[in-house]
Amino acid sequence: MGTEKLGESLQPAAEGTFSMVETAPPKSAKKPHWTSLEIGLITIVSLLFIVIVALIVLFATQKTDDERICTTADCTRSASRLLENMDPKVNPCENFYEYACGGWLKKNIIPETSSRYSTFDILRDELEVVLKGVLERSVPGEASALTKAKTLYRSCTNESQIEKREGTPLLDMLPDVFEWPIAEDNWDIAYGTTWRLEDAIARLNEKYGTQVLVNFFIGTDDKDSNSHIIHFDQQTSLGLLFRDSYACNGPYTEPCRAYVQFMIDVATLIRTDRSLLVNETRDSRGG
Ligand SMILES: *[C@@H]1O[C@H](CO)[C@@H](O)[C@H](O)[C@H]1NC(C)=O
Ligand SMILES: *[C@@H]1O[C@H](CO)[C@@H](O)[C@H](O)[C@H]1NC(C)=O
Repeated sequence: MGTEKLGESLQPAAEGTFSMVETAPPKSAKKPHWTSLEIGLITIVSLLFIVIVALIVLFATQKTDDERICTTADCTRSASRLLENMDPKVNPCENFYEYACGGWLKKNIIPETSSRYSTFDILRDELEVVLKGVLERSVPGEASALTKAKTLYRSCTNESQIEKREGTPLLDMLPDVFEWPIAEDNWDIAYGTTWRLEDAIARLNEKYGTQVLVNFFIGTDDKDSNSHIIHFDQQTSLGLLFRDSYACNGPYTEPCRAYVQFMIDVATLIRTDRSLLVNETRDSRGG
């Protein structure tokens, strides 16, 4: 209805009659189209449109609020831990390390029994306590893999049985892994001619789960978590933790000496059990 008035007033005077004549028929033709049913429908559609827009706006704002702040128990604990480990009194622009880690340094000391201490070490310790509880409880009808893990755990913690068997399991195993030359008198003759590094690595890995020189295992594919692949990597450590440990000087003098003494002790035990001669005189070729 508003357009009629607008059309009229915009028409120049000279063309006024013409336009009136021209627009008159559509006016009368249009009118019957706007039935009360149509007006009602348009009103309903408009109302629905407003309601939908309002809902979309509500939904969108609510969603962003949820995404911005996580208030689950885990999130709250994590946030509190992060805050505790920080030192907000320090200006991050002056000393970011103190700002980010100052709280941790104040609240934690490295335990006597550890060479390092971090949130990962704490997590590992907590996980071990949880695992202990899980492994010590038998559940009827559980997966066979779980039963096997529990059997292995019990065999490792059964100290009376371990004492009773003494060194027999190790002595039985050594020939299977091509022996330990230092614990054998005739290794060169008995094994030296046929020994191959590949065989020794394969046997240790396949039968005893011991990774030597190369790291070799089946695991989840990082690029497709639905499939398993063979991982093949360089060994990160031998018996000691770091490469520097084998230099046997500086901060690693003591662990290195202890490691050498440990090898001597084990070799001495094996040779004693085998009634072989024990000569602890150090060879000039090595430590
Ligand atoms: C240790 O092993 C022996 C022999 O298998 C068994 O009789 C005993 O119950 C075990 N002890 C524990 C604490 O599991
Ligand atoms: C022990 O080994 C050293 C060096 O290899 C040798 O000189 C010495 O005679 C050996 N002692 C015995 C009792 O065999």
